[in-house]
Amino acid sequence: MDLRSSRWYSGNDRNSYIHRAWMRRGLPREAFEGGKPHIAIANTASDLTPCNSHLNEVAQSVMNGVWEAGGVPLNLPVVSLGETNVRPTAMLWRNLAAMATEEMLRANPIDGVVLLGGCDKTIPSLLMAAASVDLPALVVPGGPMLTGHFRGAPLGCGTDVWRLSEEVRAGTLSREAFLRSESSMIRSRGHCNTMGTASTMACMAEALGMTLPGTAGTPAPDSRLLELSHESGRLAVELVERGRRPSQVMTRGSFLNAIVALAAVGGSTNAVVHLLAVAGRLGVRLDLDDFDRTGSGVPLLADLQPAGRHLMDDLFRAGGLAALLKEVEDLLDPAAITVTGRPLVEHLAGAEIWDEDVIRRRSNPLLPDAGIAVLRGNLAPSGAVIKPAAASPELLRHRGRAVVFDSVEDVHARLDSPDLDVDETSVLILRGCGPKGYPGMPEVGNLPLPAKLLEKGVRDMVRISDARMSGTAYGTVVLHAAPEAAAGGPLARVRTGDPIVLDVAARRLDVDVPDAELAAREPVMTGHARPVRGWERLYVEHVTQADRGADLDFLLGSGGDHVGRESH
Ligand code: FES
Ligand code: MG
Repeated sequence: MDLRSSRWYSGNDRNSYIHRAWMRRGLPREAFEGGKPHIAIANTASDLTPCNSHLNEVAQSVMNGVWEAGGVPLNLPVVSLGETNVRPTAMLWRNLAAMATEEMLRANPIDGVVLLGGCDKTIPSLLMAAASVDLPALVVPGGPMLTGHFRGAPLGCGTDVWRLSEEVRAGTLSREAFLRSESSMIRSRGHCNTMGTASTMACMAEALGMTLPGTAGTPAPDSRLLELSHESGRLAVELVERGRRPSQVMTRGSFLNAIVALAAVGGSTNAVVHLLAVAGRLGVRLDLDDFDRTGSGVPLLADLQPAGRHLMDDLFRAGGLAALLKEVEDLLDPAAITVTGRPLVEHLAGAEIWDEDVIRRRSNPLLPDAGIAVLRGNLAPSGAVIKPAAASPELLRHRGRAVVFDSVEDVHARLDSPDLDVDETSVLILRGCGPKGYPGMPEVGNLPLPAKLLEKGVRDMVRISDARMSGTAYGTVVLHAAPEAAAGGPLARVRTGDPIVLDVAARRLDVDVPDAELAAREPVMTGHARPVRGWERLYVEHVTQADRGADLDFLLGSGGDHVGRESH
């Protein structure tokens, strides 16, 4: 086998001596001979990414599998992003993590890679990196945490934080009780247990064919995760032997399968941006309208928070993603293969639903049409998205007066003021929070409701922004409006009092102001950051809009695994 790593290690010259000698710290000479694939384990374990802190144990199981199959495993810590800690938003660093991982995979003597992720941005950045370098790769998702309980009721990570904190603001829950729930929220190792972005992206990785089938959603503390990790290590060696690369697995058909899965699980709107970015790295044709076209008519089958009631542990117990996908098998591309070399649909044979309350039958869906809707109009000429599954049906067609906020700080300063001119029919608009504006497109699109309306019992309103929202959040929230205000989009020209018209069935989002009048208005750009140095500057200068995946423009297309020059 002509291994990439042998271009470093084989031969008798000075340079191959150097490459081998420095690596031989316990590795036998045979590790560099006889066609042993060198498998990197791109590991996002970090104490500051608490959702991924268990991945070193997962890595050990992967390593055992690699050794067993005749490969050489190498732990490669990569940039890790903790969703709850990293400021101003982990999304600002997703492309940095992807770029750094891509470069390290390319620069090093490796033949294949196992990608260990979990928390929201980690699987997307790893998939983007793997797509760019196109070395044989598969994902081991770190898995969700077990369900915690508070006062006898299950807690959904993220979702219940939003819900309980709104109850405090509405005066229906004491702050003391709210704070007591803190220690129950995170019961175990693993990522958020709702169908938030982390769970969604694990499912996306599997639907794309990039995991050992049956792995996504295995709870982090479940011993089967280690078994599957061991098996994934073995498969990584096989991938190298067969020369099976991400570009062969992640085809357009695979992305369309992922879109079907996204709708059926009621997944996070963030998956739209992430899947577009991964496709962009591969040069696979995929655009925003594919989400609407392919997702429309796909039923919501997973009764999971935030769109429903249950949590990831329940999904796993009920049969997992495979059982759910089996219900919509006819909508999947039968030709799209997985890392096993066999089509995704073949792996669904034998999958069964064990709890029809958690995974609904096709004949009894939670919603008949769960696809993410793509809206256009004079407020979002390049598109905006809404997740109808997490919205209030009666607000999906709505006309109301705009209440405009120029920044998150502006929201904090004015939202709860008794003088704010707002009622439940108003439309809250937040601008300056897109990729360039914040920068990094933070999860602030589900802006809180004004306290005086919460006190009246209002629990949802139409909200519109160029931001994202947490995959664990809910509400009638229009997101990712493009172009964003900071890129000169029409959001910058909207004024408080303008009539806003949302019509999800017609896929429209408009401000009812004559185009000429709108164009004549001076854009408001006050809420924007203007970074002067470093990554933030590079990012703002090159980031694409949300409808293109918010990647950097110069990272589109695959770079491949070739390195032209020696280091000495
Ligand atoms: Fe890490 Fe939710 S904070 S997955
Ligand atoms: Mg998040």
